[in-house]
Amino acid sequence: MHNITTRTLHPEGLPLVIEPTGKQFQLAEFLNHLQENTVQYRKKLLEHGGLLFRNFPVETPNDFVAVIKNLQLGEFCSYVGGDSPRKKVVDGVYTSTEAPPSIKLPLHNELSYVKNYPKHICFYCETPPAAKGETIIGDARKIYQAIDEEVKKRFIDKGLRYVSCYPYKSRFMNYVNKSHKSWINVFETEDKQEVERKCRENDISFNWNQNDWIKISQVCPAVIAHPETKEHVWFNQAHHFDFNPKFLGWWRYLGTKLLYSRKHTLLHEVFYGDDTKISRKDLYHIMDAMDKHTIYFPWQKGDVLVLDNILAMHGRETFTGKRRILTAMTS
Ligand SMILES: [Fe+2]
Repeated sequence: MHNITTRTLHPEGLPLVIEPTGKQFQLAEFLNHLQENTVQYRKKLLEHGGLLFRNFPVETPNDFVAVIKNLQLGEFCSYVGGDSPRKKVVDGVYTSTEAPPSIKLPLHNELSYVKNYPKHICFYCETPPAAKGETIIGDARKIYQAIDEEVKKRFIDKGLRYVSCYPYKSRFMNYVNKSHKSWINVFETEDKQEVERKCRENDISFNWNQNDWIKISQVCPAVIAHPETKEHVWFNQAHHFDFNPKFLGWWRYLGTKLLYSRKHTLLHEVFYGDDTKISRKDLYHIMDAMDKHTIYFPWQKGDVLVLDNILAMHGRETFTGKRRILTAMTS
C-alpha cells in the first residue's frame, strides 16, 4: 500500500516536504500519483511557496522533466536573457548556476529583472554537495513584510532600472571572471539582429559599445502581487545587481572595482526607475531582512524542489567538492 506523508522542515513553513511511507513507489506510479493529485499539490504550492519531493525514484534528468510535466506547472521556458552561467542538460533543463563555489548567491526570484519571468522554478539534486552548498530559500511575502515601510515606498514609487554589459567573446573576461557571460550566451545567438529582435520583444533597451560589447537596460517593478493569491511580494534583484562589499566580501569587491574600471565593461548596475541612485544603506537593510528569513536545508540525492517563483526566493550557499543540482523553469 502506497502512503504519502507531509511535514514542514522549518518554522517558516517552507518547503512542504512530501515523502512516501510504506511500499516504495515505482517511477510510473509516482507520476500517476502526481497527475491524480495536481490540484491539491498546486494548492499546497500557493500556501507554502515550495514543495520538496523526497525519497521518490527520480533518477535521471528525464525523470525530473516527467515530474514537472505531471504536476502540470506550465510550459518549460528557456534561460534567454538570464545572466547566470549555466549549461543546457536536456531540453528545458539546465545546470543550476556555474558561478564560483566560493561565492554565496543571495536570495532572489529567478529573472525578476526581465518582463517574462518564470512562474515556477524547479531543482533536482543529482549529486549532493559534500559540504554546505545548500540551495537557500526564503518566503518573498515575509521578506516584503520585513522591509522598512519608507524603503519599501521608495522602491515601489520609482521602480528599478537594471543595467548589464556583455562582451562578444572575451577570453580575458572569461578567464578572470567566469560568471561574466558573453551576449552570445545570454541571448543564445551570434546574430546581432536576432539579439536586437529579442531585446525589442522583451522591452529591453540596448546599445552597442566599443569592441562589440552590448549594454542592455530594463525597467521593472520592485514589488508585485501574486496573480492568484493577490499577496504582495518583494520581487527584485537590486541587492544582487549592486556590487558591494557586503555581497562580494572586501577582497572580491576591490578586485571587481579594478576589473571593471572601464565603464562599458561593468557587468551590472542598478538604479531607481528615474535613474537616481539607490543608497547602500537601503540595500544593506534589504540584505539583512533576507538573511533573517533565509532557510537552509541539506540536499539528498533524488530530491525535487518545486518553487513558486513569485512566492519563494532561492539562492546558493558556498560549497566545496562536487555538486550537481539541475534546474528547470516553467511559465
Ligand atoms: Fe537563480
